[in-house]
Amino acid sequence: MNDPITDYPKSIRNKFKELFGQEALIIRSPGRINLIGEHLDYNMGFVLPAAINKAIWLGVQKREDDGIRLHSLDYDDDYLSNIYDINPSGKLWPDYILGVVEQIRKNHSLKHGFNLVFGGDIPPGAGLSSSAALECATAFALNELFGLGYEKMDLVRIGQAAENEFVGVKCGIMDQFASVFGKKEHLIRLDCRSLESIYVPFHTNDIKILLFDTRVKHSLADSAYNQRREQCEKGVKLIQKFHPEVRSLRDASQEMLDTYVKAVDETVYRRCTYIVSEIKRLLNGCKDLEKDDLISFGKRMFETHAGLKDLYEVSCNELDLLVDLVKDNPNVIGARMMGGGFGGCTINLIKAEAANDLIKKVTDAYLSKTGTEMLVYEVEIEEGTGFN
Ligand code: GLA
Repeated sequence: MNDPITDYPKSIRNKFKELFGQEALIIRSPGRINLIGEHLDYNMGFVLPAAINKAIWLGVQKREDDGIRLHSLDYDDDYLSNIYDINPSGKLWPDYILGVVEQIRKNHSLKHGFNLVFGGDIPPGAGLSSSAALECATAFALNELFGLGYEKMDLVRIGQAAENEFVGVKCGIMDQFASVFGKKEHLIRLDCRSLESIYVPFHTNDIKILLFDTRVKHSLADSAYNQRREQCEKGVKLIQKFHPEVRSLRDASQEMLDTYVKAVDETVYRRCTYIVSEIKRLLNGCKDLEKDDLISFGKRMFETHAGLKDLYEVSCNELDLLVDLVKDNPNVIGARMMGGGFGGCTINLIKAEAANDLIKKVTDAYLSKTGTEMLVYEVEIEEGTGFN
């Protein structure tokens, strides 16, 4: 087995030289956390993400011909194509890059191909958006390389469209937005309808943001994700028959759900109830942060978890166990499953001085109940996509 990589920019620079005999342009694009507001982005609600100190690094250079030469450092794997032959690769990782090329080719006739080497420390499948980071890194890199003149928001849209159309996951805009617009020590309060955002200062001197990774990767996550989105759209359609002004669940009230959805489709009703209450929770959570009331904010995180578990049904036993293990601990301010669901991580806000003891307790309990050693990531809030 190879030694674990500790300095990605350096390893990528070296590999690039070895493979292509050139100096690479190095780009960094981070993963993300989300404090509250889960599954709200595609319902035109609000989210509260931040970019983190785990990232994808990517080295690129233009080629003279039309070839595309890709190398994944972590998988030690290659993929070869050219700019006129953009088809699904059959092995996923190249698709995040090819999907971006496909989007760019809708507006620009690229005349040259490129060489690309990438790798990073965002654990794949852990709900930290390694895919969005790779898409945004690629969009940023090609924009620089070919002088395409895209703004930051264009890069976000290109990344999301690549995921929606090429990879086939109908994700919202949160992950790509957080990766591109991330700002050190700040959360991003993003209105997913107007796309207006504000940076919310978030200092973590006396609290730690810890992610507990179940190491469960659910193979049905993508199709279940798309299904949740369809269920929300169905709820909107049912309401629209009587309230045509309702364009998304952002505009719906609990009363509308009770009146027009409950009797028609119980499952859709539960999904929509979660969304409508989570929008409220997020707005109240933002007020908590304005008042520096982390205790109240943390309680809402636990409520979000309950909603994702019982109403939206995107949790799993392992995620529930990790939340149960911390929920009565006075040193834990808030905890919940994070991201799309069906596996991945919980996010925990923990009093700094208690973190080590807690990690040990939770790790031991998780091991004895599941037979699996959970992983722990201590997260810091970092800058978004840019040159390394
Ligand atoms: C995934 C998607 C996002 C968002 C979250 C849930 O990460 O990519 O767009 O919907 O799930 O909040």
